[in-house]
Amino acid sequence: MNVVTIGVGYVGLNTAVALAYIGHTVRGVDVDARKIDLLKQRKAPISEAGLDNLLTQQMDLRFTTSLAEVIQEADIIFIAVGTPSLPNGHANLAYVESAANDIGKLLQPSHDVTIVVKSTVPVGINSQIERQIRESISARGGNTSYLHFASNPEFLREGTALMDTFYPDRFVIGTEDDRAFEMLHNLFMPIIDQTFEQPPFIDVPNPRPKTQCLRTNQISAEMIKYASNVFLALKISYANEIAGLAEKLGANMADISAGMGMDRRIAPYFLQSGLGWGGSCFPKDSLALLSISRDYDYKMPIVQAALDVNNAQKDRLVQKILTRLHILPGRRIAVYGLSFKPNTDDVRNSPSVEIAQELVRRGAVVTVHDPEGLANARVIYKDDGFIFCDTPDEAAKNADALVIATNWACYKTLDWSAIAKTMRQPLVFDARNMLRGMRFDNVEIIGL
Ligand SMILES: NC(=O)c1ccc[n+]([C@@H]2O[C@H](COP(=O)([O-])OP(=O)(O)OC[C@H]3O[C@@H](n4cnc5c(N)ncnc54)[C@H](O)[C@@H]3O)[C@@H](O)[C@H]2O)c1
Repeated sequence: MNVVTIGVGYVGLNTAVALAYIGHTVRGVDVDARKIDLLKQRKAPISEAGLDNLLTQQMDLRFTTSLAEVIQEADIIFIAVGTPSLPNGHANLAYVESAANDIGKLLQPSHDVTIVVKSTVPVGINSQIERQIRESISARGGNTSYLHFASNPEFLREGTALMDTFYPDRFVIGTEDDRAFEMLHNLFMPIIDQTFEQPPFIDVPNPRPKTQCLRTNQISAEMIKYASNVFLALKISYANEIAGLAEKLGANMADISAGMGMDRRIAPYFLQSGLGWGGSCFPKDSLALLSISRDYDYKMPIVQAALDVNNAQKDRLVQKILTRLHILPGRRIAVYGLSFKPNTDDVRNSPSVEIAQELVRRGAVVTVHDPEGLANARVIYKDDGFIFCDTPDEAAKNADALVIATNWACYKTLDWSAIAKTMRQPLVFDARNMLRGMRFDNVEIIGL
């Protein structure tokens, strides 16, 4: 099939590459000319396991900034643009509307095509996009009976985006249009049935999921996405709330998480305590769900509590640092990790960055390191007063304290005793509890 993805960010690009790999003809469109230039040279503009390798495979995959160039060939068009938060918590739909506007203007009036919203959008927005495109084509005298619409929310995780795309737990297809369902089902068939040739450089999850496909209507598909993300966010917040009490009682949170996770109804995932959740999805989707509920005069105190607990985790860490250092102005503090979680270079809405910013605000001299996210951080946070360091050693030198803010695996294997010797005080705030249970000579490790 001929596929066009509008937006080649984390979602659009991984989807485009996976669909091309399983044999479809795919064209990726983005307004960001820098991204498209890199992709034309088969270079990944984002850091994702296996992406560089996959991009160099023989596939019918091309990239352009011009939707007009490629739209007329499309059987399926994915809208995969960003939906960041507005200051009032609602999702900013400007990018989705702009993509819909471009489709409405450019499609030939009798083009038979399925238009799929992959972006996470509030309830009812799929219908609004459908109306917008139909009206635009009708206004040009077109026949809109050839247009088919579906919602297909995305569940990939940054850092394992390709693994999640090839080996997903589920596809959710929200549409009452049989043709749209059939098109999407056929498109993804090799993945639903797991019949594609495994790309050698993408890890297969263990246990390997049995991919399921759920057909529902558009509104329910929109809700499934929000309800899933916010459930995961509140599971982490619950673990953090329990961890706070466990600390007061002298109970062992690692054992509590392990013990809870042994129950299949609970499962061991998302029970690790620490600095809390961030990134470009959980915070904005929790805020969006709350905004939607407010619009309908419906209270969601559990969702609000998950946000409150998450914010409180950052205060807890700052208070712990204050208790030990007393005075922050002039203190040198190293922050290890800027990405919102390991294995991604995405430093947007990262709790680690928020901690570094708070320490700067309180007068500390803050050195920062990240294995993958430094290039992005140097651009996005260039005015935030951080001292960017290319190595963990450089960041730690002469520090009064060090914060492990993102649990990158490479930090676990550092020679912590050697690092501590270069610091003014060998004080490590392990905000991800990744060194829990480990002992190092002359290093004091304080968990969260
Ligand atoms: N990142 C994730 O882990 C993830 C997971 C599941 C769902 N989502 C959802 O998927 C959507 C996309 O997220 P993302 O992380 O890929 O965003 P992103 O910011 O990485 O990428 C969005 C891309 O869309 C491009 N764009 C914006 N307007 C455009 C237009 N009119 N035409 C063409 N390109 C345009 C941008 O230049 C950018 O490259 C969001 O709604 C997000 O909530 C994200």
